[in-house]
Parts: sequence; structure tokens; C-alpha cells
Amino acid sequence: MKDLKNKTAWITGASSGIGEALCYELASEGCNLVLSSNEPEELERVKSLLSARGTKSVVLPFDLTDIDSIPGIAQKAISSFGSIDLVFNNGGISQRSMILETPIANDRKIMEINYFSSIAITKAILPHFLKNGGGHIAVTSSLSGLFGFPLRSAYCASKHALHGFYETLRIEYLKENVKVTIACPDRVRTKISVNALAANGKPHGQMDARQDKGITPEDCARAIIKAVKKNKIVVLIGGAERISVYIKRYFPSLFYKLISKVKPT
Ligand SMILES: NC(=O)c1ccc[n+]([C@@H]2O[C@H](COP(=O)([O-])OP(=O)(O)OC[C@H]3O[C@@H](n4cnc5c(N)ncnc54)[C@H](OP(=O)(O)O)[C@@H]3O)[C@@H](O)[C@H]2O)c1
Repeated sequence: MKDLKNKTAWITGASSGIGEALCYELASEGCNLVLSSNEPEELERVKSLLSARGTKSVVLPFDLTDIDSIPGIAQKAISSFGSIDLVFNNGGISQRSMILETPIANDRKIMEINYFSSIAITKAILPHFLKNGGGHIAVTSSLSGLFGFPLRSAYCASKHALHGFYETLRIEYLKENVKVTIACPDRVRTKISVNALAANGKPHGQMDARQDKGITPEDCARAIIKAVKKNKIVVLIGGAERISVYIKRYFPSLFYKLISKVKPT
């Protein structure tokens, strides 16, 4: 979709970080926006900033763990402007805990938020795309969707799962003009580490040093929109760790040696 002007985009995780930055980037492309997260007040803040730029948006709060509510929420998203052209499945949560200290309830919560909500939204919006002659789904995976990383077993699993689902979606509905972009950012300077789930089920509560050195959410959002406009299937975004993907692909033994030396933080 080269020209996004007057298209309608639905963004999850729109209250913060990459999702919020996506909203402003899409606004400058001329899109109408449907904004979702679980924090109505934060979404209203984003809506008023968008409105000051002359962008129309509708706030649609819901909890991504409430999978049963998603078909009804998707209908509301569609009726906000009469149609949805693009969905950004971006809302998500990270993790900071070793495998043995992670209760299965935490694994499930991370899978619900990062994987099941995303596929439920996709299944709910797909009939609308097919009726409209197509649409584009962009999903925010991570470099952690391409290799394992300490303290992030469930997070990595949820992001890997997205690749399996969305690569299949793309193949199954290619002829129906359903486009898929899987964005894999390296570290981005957002609240992701602060909000990450610790072993006790509470937020980790810290801005990790390496997180703080990440690229800006604005740079990340620009790269995602560029990839969507170019109809890229997978896009690696950001810092030096992107090289790890190529090392894993071409020199797997070296990759596994290097990743074993990573300090768990
Ligand atoms: N930052 C990075 O380094 C990085 C790197 C690679 C991939 N990513 C991915 O980028 C995406 C956005 O993360 P971010 O970095 O922008 O982090 P963030 O600032 O913490 O934003 C996370 C967003 O997800 C929403 N969310 C979380 N749990 C939710 C729930 N149960 N119900 C509804 N909304 C929920 C949050 O909304 P509330 O207002 O409801 O909390 C917030 O808008 C995530 O999928 C993350 O995995 C981030």
C-alpha cells in the first residue's frame, strides 16, 4: 500500500512507545486512526495530540488478554470510520525471569497478550479485508522472534509464534490481496523493560541500561511504515544486534557461541 492517505489504521499498544509513535507517523501520512490499549486516559492524551494535528481518531480501549471480547471490538473498530485498511498488531509485554522461576501463569499471560490477541484480531478482521478486496496487517515482532535470549523464554516463544502464524496468513490469502509485514526491532527506547513481567507477576519496574541506549520509537515507527509502504514481508529495524540474525543464518556455530556469553539482563 504505497499511498496511505485517507486510509484507516487500527493500532494496538497506541498509548505508549512504538505504538504511539506509529500513530503520529500514520497521521502525517493522512490516515484516520483507531487507537487501542488498556489505558483510556493515555489513549485520550494521544487522541488530543492527533487532533491538534488535524487527524481524526477514535479511542477503543480493551484488554488484550480478553480474547473473547475481540470479535466485538473488531466490529467497533470497523464501524468507527466504516472500514479498516491497515491493522498494526503492536501491543505487547516483555519478560525478565529465568525459566525455572517463571510460573506457567506468566507464560500464558505473555502468550495471550503477544500472540493470541494478535491472531484473534486478525481472524476477526480478515472477513472484512476479504469483502473489501484486501488489507494490510503489520505485526510488531522483535529480534527475539528470530533467536532465543536469556530471561525472555516466554517473550521469545510468543514472538517466534507470530512468525509461524503470519507467514502462513500471507501464503493462504496472497491472492486475496492480504498483505503482511512482520517488523523485528532491536532495542527501542520505550517503557518495555519497565513494564516487563517479572517472576512474581509484577512489572520489572526498571529502565534497563541497554534499553535506554536503543533507537527512538519515532525512528522505529518510521521504519515500520516504510516497510508497509514497500510491502516488505519481514523487516529488521535498529541497532547493531541486527547483525546477529545474519550471523545465525550463515555462521550458526559462531552465533551459538556468542549468544552463550550474553549476560542475562
Ligand atoms: N522496545 C523495544 O525494545 C522492542 C523491541 C522489539 C519489539 N518490541 C515490541 O514492540 C511492541 C510495543 O512495545 P513498546 O516497546 O512500545 O513498549 P511499551 O511502551 O511498554 O508499550 C506497550 C503497549 O502495549 C500495550 N499493552 C500491553 N499489555 C496490554 C494489555 N493487556 N491490553 C492492552 N494493551 C496492552 C500497552 O498499553 P497500556 O496502556 O494498556 O499499558 C502499551 O500501549 C511490543 O509488541 C514489543 O514486544 C519492542
